[in-house]
Amino acid sequence: MKTIRVAPSLLSADFSRLREEIEMVEAAGADILHIDVMDGHFVPNITFGPMIVDAIRRIARVELDVHLMISEPGKYLEKFIEAGSTYVTFHVEADSEAGRLLEEGRRLGARVGIAINPATSLDQAESILEMADLVVMMTVNPGFGGQKFIHDVVPKIRALYEKKRRLGSGFLIEVDGGVNPQTAAIAAWAGADILVAGAAIFKSKDPVASFEAIRKAGLEGLAKRDDPAAFPLA
Ligand code: DX5
Ligand code: ZN
Repeated sequence: MKTIRVAPSLLSADFSRLREEIEMVEAAGADILHIDVMDGHFVPNITFGPMIVDAIRRIARVELDVHLMISEPGKYLEKFIEAGSTYVTFHVEADSEAGRLLEEGRRLGARVGIAINPATSLDQAESILEMADLVVMMTVNPGFGGQKFIHDVVPKIRALYEKKRRLGSGFLIEVDGGVNPQTAAIAAWAGADILVAGAAIFKSKDPVASFEAIRKAGLEGLAKRDDPAAFPLA
C-alpha cells in the first residue's frame, strides 16, 4: 500500500535536548529523520559535520536521511556514510559529475539521493534520475529552516512524479522546505513519498500533534493523487 512518511528535520530541534527531541518524534511514529548539513559555502549557513551524524546515529533507532548542502560533496561522501547515513543526498548544483558520485555512494553502502533547488530545472538531473534512490525537491531555497513553501515548485514535483510513473522508476520523491499541515496535502498529491518538516514540528507548541496533522494532510493529498485537477498547479 502506498503511504506518506514524514521526516522531522532536526535543524529546528533543540540541540541541547537532542535525545529527548529524537525520542519524541520516534514515539510519534517517525521512521526517518532528516539531517541538514550546511557548509557556509554552498549555502549561507553552517550546521554540523559527520561527528554529529555519528552521535545522532547512536541515539536514533530509525533511518537517517542526510541532506548535504555542501560544495564538493564527493570529498565528504564517505565520511557521512561511515557516520551512519541511511540515505545520503547531495545537490545536482554542487557537482557536475553527479552520476559518478551516486555510484560511489552506493558502492560505499548507502542509499543515494540528489537534491534539486527551486530554480533548477529537472533537465539538469534528467540523465541521472534513474540512478538515484531518492530525489529531493526543494520547496525553499536551502540554508534555513522555517521558510515559506514555494508553490511554484509544485508543477515540477508533479512533472517528476509523472516521469517516474512513465519510466516505471523506483526512486522516492521527497519534498523539503516549508511543509506544514497546510502545504502537506498539495506536496503529497503532487508526488511526494516523504515530507520533510522542521519548524512546523519542532517549533510548534505540540510537536506530536503537528507531526500527526502533517501525516494526515499528506494522506489526504495522496488519496487524490490520481485526480490531476485535485489541486491548482498555478
Ligand atoms: C532547508 C533544509 C530543510 C529545512 C526544512 O535548507 O534543507 O530540510 O530544515 O525546514 P522547514 O520544514 O522548517 O522548512
Ligand atoms: Zn533538508
